[in-house]
Amino acid sequence: TGMSLLAILIAYLLGSISFSYVITRWTKGYDIRERGSGNAGSTNMLRVVGKGPAVLVFILDVIKGMAAVGVGYAFGVNETMLLGCGVAAIIGHNWPIFLGFRGGKGIATTIGVTALMTLSAALSSGVVAILAVILTRYVSLGSLIFIAGLPIMISILDYPTSYIYLSLIIALLGFIRHWTNIKRLAKGTESKIGSAKPQN
Ligand code: G3P
Repeated sequence: TGMSLLAILIAYLLGSISFSYVITRWTKGYDIRERGSGNAGSTNMLRVVGKGPAVLVFILDVIKGMAAVGVGYAFGVNETMLLGCGVAAIIGHNWPIFLGFRGGKGIATTIGVTALMTLSAALSSGVVAILAVILTRYVSLGSLIFIAGLPIMISILDYPTSYIYLSLIIALLGFIRHWTNIKRLAKGTESKIGSAKPQN
């Protein structure tokens, strides 16, 4: 268990590396969290910086989630702790120790984690989420559908029971981080992709 705790800690630190922050700071000089929705993630990169940087950040954040699971694997932790490492990385992404605990919303990182740990649940929930984004152009709505669908699909499909609980934690954390988006969605003021200026 000492090894598991160390793996969790490393996964959290890894998750805390904010690619949207680092890339924007280095290439543009400003703090991504002071623009657009104020979120340190690829959706806000698309809104504020552009398509290329957004895709780059998305890919790096997905890989980060995968790498966190890889950390657990390297430490030889059990399957519950393996997903636990993924959760730790999502927590790091959302509340990064290097950035005053103000980071992103954890969706790309979750995609990376679940692609390795619960692929069929990620795909089935992901298809519905992507359809929602295409139909409504609300990325946040797709994100919420994706994380809400995970525990549902994980319980339906044949995964360990511990995965249900951990995916519920992922969903809960994601909903907490999307709280302002949920309020905007309810009011009809959420920004759509392809149109400018969100209100934060
Ligand atoms: O994954 C983040 C997305 O769901 C919302 O991002 O910047 O629109 O709050 P943003």
